[in-house]
Amino acid sequence: MTTQTHHQLLPNQTLSAQQLEQFDRDGYLFFPSAFSPTEMKVLLDEVPKLYAENRPEIVREKDGKTPRTSFAAHTYNEAFAKLGQHPRLIEPAKQLFGEDVYMHQFKINGKQAFDGDVWQWHQDYGTWQRDDGMPQARAMNVALFLDEVNEFNGPLLFIPGSHKKGVLQAGHDVSTTSYPLWTLDNEKIAELVAQGGIVAPKGPPGSMLLFHGCLVHGSPSNMSPWNRVIVYLSLCAVSNHITQFNRPDYIAHRRFNPIASLPNDCLTRTDIPGLPFPGYEATAKAA
Ligand code: SIN
Ligand code: MN
Repeated sequence: MTTQTHHQLLPNQTLSAQQLEQFDRDGYLFFPSAFSPTEMKVLLDEVPKLYAENRPEIVREKDGKTPRTSFAAHTYNEAFAKLGQHPRLIEPAKQLFGEDVYMHQFKINGKQAFDGDVWQWHQDYGTWQRDDGMPQARAMNVALFLDEVNEFNGPLLFIPGSHKKGVLQAGHDVSTTSYPLWTLDNEKIAELVAQGGIVAPKGPPGSMLLFHGCLVHGSPSNMSPWNRVIVYLSLCAVSNHITQFNRPDYIAHRRFNPIASLPNDCLTRTDIPGLPFPGYEATAKAA
């Protein structure tokens, strides 16, 4: 059974004491319609253009065609660069860590109608620690729904409270999907679900989710006729930057520059540039 608690940010884009308490207890917070339809159109209009490109940053499903995830669009696309510096996404993370944050990873997950494949049960910090040498679980995801997420199109599934268990034992699954992941076994999932249950936050485009780096999550395949595109910012406390560079730079970034938030209305303003993203100034000049 899912009971959704609906939240709003405080006027300065921060979390209330009650929200901080709930995040600590459950490991996530849900904000339906945090972004307006006008703001969402700015982002949504860019997605087909991005997916049409033939870049190494775009990982396809096992069929070799359907876009599964597109990395690092904040480094080359104006609208997504602004999103990567948006106060509604950045300020709560800064508040939770009590310091500046940098972008560890930025991805747009396709989960396309009919063809979007499963994301197995996992913890993101499990990967950040094992593959990237991130010292502590002082990094988190902020997700924004670009499409409506409903019970049919492969919603994210969370096990509330599972972040309290720290880093759980995991196996490196390189075969189930086209993207390798450190995944948890069924026995452990059954045990965690017996304690915390499962929730699947659902809502219109523009809904936002904050979740802890150790929160156990996954998502089923999308056999509906509706796309389920979600953008994820993985924000890391600047003092907690990664120490190993095993994965490509476009998957685990190596520029630890603090992100300064742009104005709250940046997405719909043409006088505010998003690019170059902090840390990419020299790359932008060279391009
Ligand atoms: C993820 O956990 O990294 C992706 C899950 C999803 O987009 O469904
Ligand atoms: Mn994940």
